Amino acid sequence: MTIASDYTEKIPNNVGLAGDRRLQRALESWQPDFLSWWESMGPALPTRDVYLRTAVNVGREGWAHFDFVPMRDYRWGIFLAERDPGRRIGFGAHKGEPAWQKVPGEYRADLQRLIVIQGDTEPASVEQQRNLGACAPSLYDLRNLFQVNVEEGRHLWAMVYLLHAYFGREGREEAEELLHRNSGSAEAPRILGAFNEETPDWLSFYMFTYFTDRDGKYQLGTLKESAFDPLSRTCEFMLKEEAHHMMVGTTGVDRVVERTAQVMAENDTDDVAALGAIPLPVIQKYLNFHYSVSLDLFGGETSTNVANYYTAGLKGRWMEDRRKDDHRLADDSIMVDALVDGKIDYLEVAALTGLNTDLRREYIADCRGGVSRWNKILDSAGLPHRLKLPHAAFNRKVGAFAGIEAAPDGEMISAAEWERRKGEWLPTDVDKTFVRSLMRPVHERGKIAAWIAPPRNGINGKPFDYDYVHLA
Ligand SMILES: [Fe+2]
Ligand SMILES: [Fe+2]
Repeated sequence: MTIASDYTEKIPNNVGLAGDRRLQRALESWQPDFLSWWESMGPALPTRDVYLRTAVNVGREGWAHFDFVPMRDYRWGIFLAERDPGRRIGFGAHKGEPAWQKVPGEYRADLQRLIVIQGDTEPASVEQQRNLGACAPSLYDLRNLFQVNVEEGRHLWAMVYLLHAYFGREGREEAEELLHRNSGSAEAPRILGAFNEETPDWLSFYMFTYFTDRDGKYQLGTLKESAFDPLSRTCEFMLKEEAHHMMVGTTGVDRVVERTAQVMAENDTDDVAALGAIPLPVIQKYLNFHYSVSLDLFGGETSTNVANYYTAGLKGRWMEDRRKDDHRLADDSIMVDALVDGKIDYLEVAALTGLNTDLRREYIADCRGGVSRWNKILDSAGLPHRLKLPHAAFNRKVGAFAGIEAAPDGEMISAAEWERRKGEWLPTDVDKTFVRSLMRPVHERGKIAAWIAPPRNGINGKPFDYDYVHLA
């Protein structure tokens, strides 16, 4: 089968690929590299086909087409949200001017960098999740994993399309690099720290899709505001797909907590490990880890680069058009996390330099929503236990608190105390080994592993016991 010959049919798109031979050829030469990357770094579990959602257009019906497809033949399409011909720039020095359909020369390097950083995270998560299929707790979960994987693959396509279409030879080179860097690689790691961490078990996967994918949602939200219209429209469409990834994380953690709460309540004990469930303190440690490494993804509390991106119109704020200010921020200020006289405190800085903090706060508020829903599950099981987000200073490697140690409650501690006590707060080898020991595959239709509750709903109106995945 030669894919190249009927490429435009193979790759659904709404960017007029058939009418742009140069771009078509460029993507044609990238496609075999993508497929060999998918084969060697994508899902390791052999499958015949999977019940997947494929975007075949951006309209209401088009973007969510469900069918059984062999994953290698997934139609990784290129879709941008519908163009608004009257769209104007919503913030920064160019506020009110028409959105850009081409890349302005003076912002070329910065825009390319932003696209590469976003693009690098997409295949990274596929690599991190490569081996999870072999220990999936149910066919439903296995299908969701693969859905997330193919969509992250499509998001890579989306970024590669922009690089090829708007950034010339340098863009094409960057597109190749996106396949050569690999998660956790010693020689050529992924750009951002959290994307070089392992996702060795399903508790990590749910925490990752809750906390780390959610960072992605916020980053995409800022790029959706971009004055560069093709980037804005690409991100708008990606955000639609991300909603499913958020759902997988949110309900995944829900179901782990629900099962743990059930075993605790039924047996009137906190010690559920011997009963095959994950103890709450272990869940809390996983939460602490994934939350803190995800906070690092937002960068330093202050950044002149990000201030410049905003003023230039490259990257806006979360929900920019709902903000009730002048959308230029030249005279505003913000309080940011800081070490003041060696203590955890706040500092007032110019609003523009504090934009990373602004975005991180939106994210933190969103994360609180998850924790309160998990606590409701504990509450309805009649349990007094509660989960908590750790303090922003806890386990940080980036920003104001990178150089200090803090307990989850925000109390500053010495390096020696951190070393002594970190096993109380972050997953230890014993915890990880225990969680891994529960990860036995349940690939039988309608069955589910003992450490997690079944979902309330299936996918696309199908029941939980549907045959979502046909294994090879
Ligand atoms: Fe993505
Ligand atoms: Fe995602």
